[in-house]
Amino acid sequence: MPGSCAVRLALVTGASRGIGAAVAIRLAGLGATVVRMSRSTPPTLEGAVDVAVDLADPDARDAALDRLLAEHGIPDVVVNNAGGFLLAPLEETSDALLREQLAINVEAPFAIARRLLPLMRKRGSGRHLLVGSVADLRAFPENAAYSASKFGVRGLHEVLVEEYRGSGVQCTLVSPGPTDTTVWDPFDPDARDGFPGRAEMLRPDDVAEAIVWAATRPVRSHVESIRLGPG
Ligand SMILES: NC(=O)c1ccc[n+]([C@@H]2O[C@H](COP(=O)([O-])OP(=O)(O)OC[C@H]3O[C@@H](n4cnc5c(N)ncnc54)[C@H](OP(=O)(O)O)[C@@H]3O)[C@@H](O)[C@H]2O)c1
Repeated sequence: MPGSCAVRLALVTGASRGIGAAVAIRLAGLGATVVRMSRSTPPTLEGAVDVAVDLADPDARDAALDRLLAEHGIPDVVVNNAGGFLLAPLEETSDALLREQLAINVEAPFAIARRLLPLMRKRGSGRHLLVGSVADLRAFPENAAYSASKFGVRGLHEVLVEEYRGSGVQCTLVSPGPTDTTVWDPFDPDARDGFPGRAEMLRPDDVAEAIVWAATRPVRSHVESIRLGPG
């Protein structure tokens, strides 16, 4: 990619399928070593190293990050993508469901950023990409827990932009609209009013293309946020 920034080592969370898997394929295609973290192990990919970990479990997450740093070093690019999606009205959202959304959508990327960004700052370079959602800015019914978590993701990102401005560490929020991945399987959007059909949704690689584009801009260019939706 002429003029783009080289990526030698990348961490992609939630890379076993969907958007994260597509990001890992694109980054590996650029010659990067890609550490893929998720609970299940994805199909083999040349250039990828797989770490099976529940990122909502603080001890397991810390151990996985220890391993990343000891065996591979500080990533050039971190794609904090792992997440869950819940579609439920407020009155059907239990404390346990809310905690589940917050643990994987907010606490995990927060803790990963807190561990890795200071090391990138010390080195003077790095890119941190958070995956938000159309629901990190817009309200939709049945999104109480999901939107609370994704508004939190956007808030985290906006603070990181300010805290790391001028440090050499650049932060990007990528907020996709509906994307045809397994998160939709339990909800059957084709059969519900007010939802795009799966055929109209973005494809995981559409989102991956935007993420990898932002991650590989020349260092003089900082992409703070990208919002993309179905055409
Ligand atoms: N699809 C959409 O319409 C859409 C729209 C806007 C934003 N997003 C966001 O895009 C991101 C990726 O979603 P996706 O649509 O690609 O979903 P997906 O296909 O279900 O992929 C989610 C990924 O996150 C991983 N993950 C989930 N919980 C985890 C945990 N506790 N520990 C480690 N890994 C975990 C999953 O792996 P394992 O199950 O193997 O752990 C999987 O690799 C999420 O942040 C989501 O909120 C999606």
